[in-house]
Parts: sequence; C-alpha cells; structure tokens
Amino acid sequence: MPGAEVLTRLPGLIDVHAHLREPGAPHKEDWDSGTAAALAGGFTTVLAMPNTQPAVTGRAALALSLDGAAAKAHCDYGQYVGAGAGNAEEAAALAPQAAGLKLYLDQTFGNLKLDDTALWFPHFERWPDDRPIAAHAEGKTLAAVILVAELFHRSVHLCHVSSREEILLIRKAKERGLPVTCEVCPHHLFLTLEDAPRLGAGRCEVRPRLATPADQEALWEHLDVIDCFATDHAPHTLEEKDSPNPPPGFPGLETILPLLLTAVHAGRLTLEDVTTRLHDNPGRIFGLPEQPDTFIEVDLDENYTLGAAGLHTRCGWTPFEGQPVRGRVRRVTLRGELAFEDGNVIAPRGVGRNVRNVQLNKEN
Ligand code: DOR
Ligand code: ZN
Ligand code: ZN
Repeated sequence: MPGAEVLTRLPGLIDVHAHLREPGAPHKEDWDSGTAAALAGGFTTVLAMPNTQPAVTGRAALALSLDGAAAKAHCDYGQYVGAGAGNAEEAAALAPQAAGLKLYLDQTFGNLKLDDTALWFPHFERWPDDRPIAAHAEGKTLAAVILVAELFHRSVHLCHVSSREEILLIRKAKERGLPVTCEVCPHHLFLTLEDAPRLGAGRCEVRPRLATPADQEALWEHLDVIDCFATDHAPHTLEEKDSPNPPPGFPGLETILPLLLTAVHAGRLTLEDVTTRLHDNPGRIFGLPEQPDTFIEVDLDENYTLGAAGLHTRCGWTPFEGQPVRGRVRRVTLRGELAFEDGNVIAPRGVGRNVRNVQLNKEN
C-alpha cells in the first residue's frame, strides 16, 4: 500500500563504549550533545569512557562527570573509572558507582596507558568480581590481558576487536572456557584500510586502526564470537582531524544501527543478531538494570544516505558520509515517555538515570 509505513519495535539499545568528552572537551561533545546523539541512534543507555580531562581515575573526577550527566543526560548512562599506575585502591572503592574499570594497554587518545604488565595486577586483584573490567588491548597485548585475567580468576571484556589475529585468539579462549567477552565496532565491520585514501590522512585515524579486508572478513566470519557491537563513539572536530596532529577516533552513535540494518537486508546477519549484541548481551555482561516501557521504533525500509547534516554529535562529521543505508530510527520511548521522534530529541536534559543508581532513582 503506497504511503503505509510499518515501524518495527526493537529494545532500547545499549552502547557499552562511548567517549562523551565531559569533563574537559565540550567543543567535541558533552553529556548533553552525546546523549542526544545516543537517542538519535536508538540508544537508551550509554557507558562513557574515562579518558576525559581530567581523566576519571578518582573520586573527584568521577563526581565531576556524574554531576554533568545528572544535569544534562537525555538517556540513561554509566561512567567508567580508568585504571592508572597508582589508583587501584581508590578505583576499587568507586566500583559500586562505576560502569566498569577501563584499562588502556595500547597507545590511544589521552595518557592512561599502562605499559608495565605488573601495573595491571593491583587492578585485577582489587576490582570487585561483580563489576566488569574492559580492556583496550591490541594484537599480542590481547593475549597478555587474557592471561592476566585468568591468573586472577576473573572475567575481562575486550574492547573493539579489529583483526583476524584477535578474533581467533578470543575464539580459542572461549573454546577453553575462559570468561572473556568482546565487542566489535562498526568502523571495523564496514571500513578497511582501503577506505583510508578516500577518508584522508587525519580523518582515517582511529585506534585500533582500520584493518585489512582479510581482517574485516574474519570479523564477519566469526560473528558467533562477538558478544556486543559497540560504537567507540570518539568525537573530534573536523578542524582537529584535519590538523597536522590529528587525534584518533570516529563518531559512531548515530550511524551504527542503519549500517547494521543495511547488513540485515543484505543477508549478512539477522535482526536478532543485532538486538542480541546491542541490547541483551551488553545488559547481561555489564549487569545493567532493565528499562521498563523502553523501546525504539525503526523503519526498516527507508532508504537514505548517511551524512553530517542533521547529526546531533557536536563533532560535525562522519566517516560514513555518502554511504547509502536502509533503515532509520523514527522514535525512541524511554520509560514510557517519547524521547526522540523524527530527528528531534524530546527527552529533556537531566532525564537520564545513572545505571548504578537505580535504587536511588526509584525512591524519587
Ligand atoms: O580512536 C580512538 N579514539 N581510540 C581510542 O581508544 C580512544 C578514542 C578517543 O578517545 O578519541
Ligand atoms: Zn580503545
Ligand atoms: Zn574507545
């Protein structure tokens, strides 16, 4: 029937890996613009990374970030605490209020990298078992962190797996029964090194780097090993990306679902593969509370082209500019209230709840 539109209901999506830049870099993003972008992308929960300025490695910075979130977030949120060289005790004390502990074990944006393997030990020793540890670990560092987690008898969540070597290693670890989980990002599923010249020198910079077509193929081939899709939404402005010293990172909150839905149309995965990895598994692995009366409505058949126009992220660009997609987020309902509709964020600032604070919120 011409004009008739059928919207498909999916659960509110959960992004376990986003950089929202507050505190410290509101020209790139903050809790307001970042959670607006989240809703526009179909996410009703985002977990924010700690490589902010100051980095969230202690009580004061955690409070600073959470105060900003409480005042400005349009959707639910959690804040990671970062593992530093001397903060294992303080970090562990903050665990009840944290989304998880983040370990940076390879070079990336910010200065939280822990070089010496022995620096990882106090964190694995002290961080409570019922809270996740997530690691940025690439290549052989991934093997190292899987070993260290095993030595301390605990689980570890592996961020943004991007290569054949890594996904095969995780498959082996899982076959052995080790409690490892992992996430893959849209830019590693839908872009490769071959897209770098088109994107340009600064705009193709991301960590882990864009990989080879063979690496990309291996991720698709081992989809069953992938627990979560995550955006690694890492906004930097175009001025910064096009500068002589471009920071690594791509925005991703508003483009991941249309890219995945397009892959569903192409028969590369099922709708259930998507909701399992963007809702069920993230919620289980990170121990997140259910969001009652929360869902998104998507038009699975709308064809359009991704582009910077209309994005809510403050960084003002996307590496998927010009990419044709099929599938659009039309509405988001959060706890029974319309939160987003047809490009407009309706949920007011401050409506978002801390995922580690449900009890408190329930009493309100
Ligand atoms: O490309 C990246 N950008 N990778 C990371 O791990 C950090 C992120 C950022 O914060 O910009
Ligand atoms: Zn990372
Ligand atoms: Zn990241």
